[in-house]
Amino acid sequence: MSSEKESKTLAVVNCAQLVTLAGPERPRVGPELRDLGIVANGGMFVREGLIESVGSRDEIESLIESDTEVVDALGRVVLPGFVDAHTHPVFGGTRVDEFEERSKGATYEEIAARGGGIQSTVNATRAMYEEMLAYKCWKYADWFLRSGTTTIEAKSGYGLSLEDELKILRIINRLGSETPLRYVPTFLGAHSIPSEYRSRRDEYVSLIIEEMLPAVAQEKLAEFCDVFCEQNVFTTDEAWKILSAARCHGMGLRIHADQLSLSGGAQLAAELGTVTADHLEHTDAAGIAALKEAGVQPVLLPGSVYALGSSRYPAAREMIDAGLAVVLATDFNPGSSPTPSIPMILSLASTHMKMTPAEGISAVTINAAYSLNRGAQLGSLEPGKIADFVIHDCSDYREISYFFGIEHPSHVYVHGTLISRR
Ligand code: NIG
Ligand code: FE
Repeated sequence: MSSEKESKTLAVVNCAQLVTLAGPERPRVGPELRDLGIVANGGMFVREGLIESVGSRDEIESLIESDTEVVDALGRVVLPGFVDAHTHPVFGGTRVDEFEERSKGATYEEIAARGGGIQSTVNATRAMYEEMLAYKCWKYADWFLRSGTTTIEAKSGYGLSLEDELKILRIINRLGSETPLRYVPTFLGAHSIPSEYRSRRDEYVSLIIEEMLPAVAQEKLAEFCDVFCEQNVFTTDEAWKILSAARCHGMGLRIHADQLSLSGGAQLAAELGTVTADHLEHTDAAGIAALKEAGVQPVLLPGSVYALGSSRYPAAREMIDAGLAVVLATDFNPGSSPTPSIPMILSLASTHMKMTPAEGISAVTINAAYSLNRGAQLGSLEPGKIADFVIHDCSDYREISYFFGIEHPSHVYVHGTLISRR
């Protein structure tokens, strides 16, 4: 098997299926989602961390140079590293006590209303020094990598003060340079109204717009801005103000929309032309049509539906049939979706949302990469792209969605370097 030292060239051979996702240079829609560009008995040649050629085993073997490192995939499946386009990976504590309460019948909304929920994680996160918090979150980076994810979008949102939001975003940027996982940072100061502002919510919205956004932009700490738009959280008017201000600072826009109720989030996303609208469990046909018209990518998060014990999954089939460039993500967070596992999300997408395994794979690779403005570099195995790829211990890619509760990756490569093996 391969060695862990860096090599200038790398030849990956003997892949039962090299799942390339090769195709048009844009997110995939409709029937395109089922076309994974699989090369049977394929291989790939990598130079200086970039993919140089993709082809049959014979073609790739003919390129091998004297010092090329040869990686024998032993008849297994090779995929691009998963791109997880919605996570909240920097938080203090856990919410295991609330998990137990929910197991006895309490609801997520009830727990939040009595000061638990996001606010309890905010308290735990504020209480941790930057070093300690960064150290804690290294572990989650490792979890993502081991489950085959090589890039994550990472939101702040458990600080909710200028100082603590900056602390979280600095940690995200630091983890991006100190771990092999790629991070795309998103500012989510509008995740909740913190308890000290409960009776003066306008002041908190002003704090976000007048102090937090300029500071985040000044330090270049985030590429995107997100708002949790929901009844009893941020109204559509507040979300409009915050996202419009973020746009003026050059940030891309994302929004938590229609998660717990039909609250106008998808319509607002369409009106603003956000890059993504995320969750969408309650979005209706008019909302789906509006997203299509505006070219907004839906990011669907079945892990949170599952972990909250709900059965209201987003209408993925209707969205695909309407021509939306669907993305799937984990929503990794301590409250509603404590999983970093894209394979688990793929299982849920097929069993509860009737997405085929192929549609699921497109949604967690190429479409997710485009939703993060990384479509030209990541999300498929094509010449010129970064060699982030994973050998999965199976001979048919559909096994990744089918066998659930186990981790399939045996070898994870980032930029052509082996960073995790099992
Ligand atoms: O995406 N919806 C808002 N934010 C998270 C939940 C965060 C939490 O409960 O801590 C979500 O589900
Ligand atoms: Fe979320």
